[in-house]
Amino acid sequence: MIRAEKLASVGRLSAGIAHEIGNPIGIVTGYLDLLKQVDLAPEERVEYMERAQREIDRISTIIRQLLEISRPSPAGSHRVSVHSLLEDMAEVLNVQPFMSHVHFYLRLDAPDDAVVADTNQLRQVFLNLIINAADAISARNDVTRGELVVSTENRGTDGAVGGDGKPWLLVRFSDNGTGIAEENLRDVFDPFYTTKEPGKGTGLGLSVSFMIVESFGGRMEVDSTVGHGTTMTVVMPVSRSAGQPVAGRPVTGHLSEETPVAASTPPAFRADRQTG
Ligand SMILES: Nc1ncnc2c1ncn2[C@@H]1O[C@H](COP(=O)(O)OP(=O)(O)O)[C@@H](O)[C@H]1O
Ligand SMILES: [Mg+2]
Repeated sequence: MIRAEKLASVGRLSAGIAHEIGNPIGIVTGYLDLLKQVDLAPEERVEYMERAQREIDRISTIIRQLLEISRPSPAGSHRVSVHSLLEDMAEVLNVQPFMSHVHFYLRLDAPDDAVVADTNQLRQVFLNLIINAADAISARNDVTRGELVVSTENRGTDGAVGGDGKPWLLVRFSDNGTGIAEENLRDVFDPFYTTKEPGKGTGLGLSVSFMIVESFGGRMEVDSTVGHGTTMTVVMPVSRSAGQPVAGRPVTGHLSEETPVAASTPPAFRADRQTG
């Protein structure tokens, strides 16, 4: 597995922001100048306003994504059941048009699925990965059946991951989309790296996700083969409360207000999907 070692540094991020936000601001200023002309045809006026609006929308998207980074706070963190969160998300995603071409499966096999995290941020990370997978499947025209499998597994001291005695939870997002060329694997976590059209991608999803996962004491890894697909793995420390059996399900009662832990999790969950 190839480890993503390039974490976006704040410095690189700032330079990127200055550039990515500076450009649309320049464009908006240009359209405002044009709009000052007195002899504009009404449809020209409308067009300039609409173009300026699109640039402003782009700026707000970038800012919204950047806010995800500044929000991590230990105060917002609880013990969260990753399985419950994924099951909740699957229900919502089933009816989303952007997922209509994707067969979405959950294989939630990890006995210990509790982590300490901010639920909203963790949901944001998972959503970023799912949207990327859906995009990669759409971008592929030689595949008839788009598939995204989200699976979980625990690894301990003796596994490939960790080594400090802490148990880990691995959450894998495996798609059969376009895949990523080997020479680009190191770039995907860089801020503003995108292969999508302007307006479709900002290149912030993975860099922001990486920082969020790091703030939970974890990291992200990518493994991909062009023409086969991509696996993005989120690795986080398992949270075990004192006195609980190691092999058992970790939690009874509520992990957080939003994500009560299910008594049991089906080993494989086929999400029903509406076409549309
Ligand atoms: N599952 C995936 N399959 C193929 N390529 C991917 C996948 N996830 C991410 N990428 C690549 O990494 C780039 C950066 O992803 P991201 O940071 O989420 O930004 P964005 O989605 O806005 O482009 C994408 O543009 C794409 O080239
Ligand atoms: Mg993305």
